[in-house]
Amino acid sequence: MEPIFITDVSPRDGLQNQSIAVDTQAKLELIRRLACAGVRSIEVSSFVSPKAVPQMADAADLLPRVMAQLPDVRASVLVPNLKGLERASAAGAQEIAVVLSATETMNRKNINMGLSQAADVSAQTLQRAKAQGLRTRAYVAVAFDCPFEGRTSMDTVVTLSQRMQAAGADEVVIADTIGSASPGMVKQLLQVLLTTISADRLAVHFHDTRGMGVANAWAALEAGVRRFDASTGGIGGCPFAPGAAGNLATEDLVLMAERSGFATGIDLHALLDAIAFAEAALQRRFGGRSIQWLRQQAEKPALA
Ligand code: COA
Ligand code: ZN
Repeated sequence: MEPIFITDVSPRDGLQNQSIAVDTQAKLELIRRLACAGVRSIEVSSFVSPKAVPQMADAADLLPRVMAQLPDVRASVLVPNLKGLERASAAGAQEIAVVLSATETMNRKNINMGLSQAADVSAQTLQRAKAQGLRTRAYVAVAFDCPFEGRTSMDTVVTLSQRMQAAGADEVVIADTIGSASPGMVKQLLQVLLTTISADRLAVHFHDTRGMGVANAWAALEAGVRRFDASTGGIGGCPFAPGAAGNLATEDLVLMAERSGFATGIDLHALLDAIAFAEAALQRRFGGRSIQWLRQQAEKPALA
């Protein structure tokens, strides 16, 4: 079976938006369970302003513990600027992700910079990270629609993606931040991107707001993409993008991919343990569209 590569973003994209605070030990346990399920790439936290996102304030404490306890896991952290990179490096980060939105307003709301400054800062951050020998990812957010400006210009997404690659992004991550894309839109954008960015340097990051996450992932697979972000239990959403619901659930992506002849290396039964843990920690029910069926298969009763 052909492998696909999944980065689980639940500890970052999933937890950044939760009203219940999750302590460092509980985050570590969630990450440990993801690793036990076979997840080999995890976005564990973000080095952003603790005033902007208090849930990620413990990044410098969490990251070294993850790296020490789970040396086989690629632990990535989101950094919005050079200060974030500095903090991440000091904590021992080996992989960072910058976040550049494809519209003026989304950048201002998310990182308090206009598009042009955000692109410059992201490029500088990538260059410095590469000079330090780190692995790098670059999110191009609101790549399909912006909650403030409507439909995003495809030309802008393509130009920014190419610029981030030229600045040193090992992986450009096309993010449907508010989950508004359709398979047709995904196919159209990826076909263009893949003419200048090779499939091994392109990833997709979908949210499931309109129930299109799996269909969009399939469109990306058909277009030739093999690198995916997903969030266990579908936990997630950007606090600065109104209307953003949870991510495409890792379990839905794994089920779809494995049943379609792709190998993910992820054990679905073991993933249920991670979801159960997240539910207990956050006092909320989680799970993608396949969760009921998966739980029946595992004969594990859902939490009461
Ligand atoms: N980590 C921690 N603190 C940071 C920081 C970082 N990466 N970048 C800046 N700061 C601090 C500055 O040191 C300064 O601190 P002080 O008030 O004690 O002097 C303060 O934040 C303001 O600095 P400034 O450069 O003016 O930042 P800002 O207020 O314009 O905020 C960001 C910019 C990027 C730091 C902030 O908008 C942010 O953290 N956004 C993250 C959004 C996010 O995580 N979105 C979800 C993921 S896509
Ligand atoms: Zn997201």
